[in-house]
Amino acid sequence: MQCIFETQGITKQFGGLTAVDHVDLKLEAGDLQCIIGPNGCGKTTLFNLITGYYRPSAGTVFFADQDITAKPVHVISKLGIGRKFQIPGIFEQLTVYENIRVPFFANQRQPMFVGSRLDSDSHQKIMEHLSDINLVDKADEFARNLAHGEKQWLEIGMVLASKPRLMLLDEPTAGMTVMETHQTAKLIQEISKTTGITILVIEHDIRFVREIASRITVMYKGAIFREGNYQEINSDEAVREIYLGRHR
Ligand SMILES: Nc1ncnc2c1ncn2[C@@H]1O[C@H](COP(=O)(O)OP(=O)(O)OP(=O)(O)O)[C@@H](O)[C@H]1O
Ligand SMILES: [Mg+2]
Repeated sequence: MQCIFETQGITKQFGGLTAVDHVDLKLEAGDLQCIIGPNGCGKTTLFNLITGYYRPSAGTVFFADQDITAKPVHVISKLGIGRKFQIPGIFEQLTVYENIRVPFFANQRQPMFVGSRLDSDSHQKIMEHLSDINLVDKADEFARNLAHGEKQWLEIGMVLASKPRLMLLDEPTAGMTVMETHQTAKLIQEISKTTGITILVIEHDIRFVREIASRITVMYKGAIFREGNYQEINSDEAVREIYLGRHR
């Protein structure tokens, strides 16, 4: 398999705090990988370093054979790294369909006017994205009227419509019910299988990770603490302890 993404010794210090500490992470094209770890262990900061929001204190990020370390956010995004934030960034006043149109046209470098006519090919592709996120029936609904879980799916759909090669999802099940969490795990697995997009998901919830059944990286105090499959991570006493806050 082809390595599409790699960090080497990526580090971020905020004053005296090392939020991300020499993280080496490698993804092959098509991987679906999870990052878990307790609050404040550096997961979101790692995404901020990958996507150019923060300049690393040390280390390098490679994507698709390019050194992208500290490149501007818009350049990294155009290169094909799409990101879903912890809090959904949807357009509440637009319909579900229109929300998908925005990144779809931005990706094609075409001007987009809400309400303007769409060629049937573009319409078809937007409907496919809606199908990927189980929102075909809500196409004409205003985004503000969606349930919390559906808003999270819509944002995943918006990231998909920007045609990323690597998709970063930061806690896609935050605030979801048990059923929504289960549906989201299925949805992400299906997207991974049908699109082949490389996906890196931050999650707290070990049950979600079990459903995804992917490779897991455990972060603790900014560093990689363990890597393995669900069985290995779940049976690791030290991992259990850091979640219970007893590890020293
Ligand atoms: N801009 C910043 N300035 C100073 N400290 C920061 C900044 N951003 C993050 N931190 C600190 O870096 C550490 C890691 O934060 P981060 O948000 O990456 O954690 P996280 O693993 O995503 O946590 P959570 O699970 O709660 O989302 C925390 O101690 C946080 O307070
Ligand atoms: Mg976070």
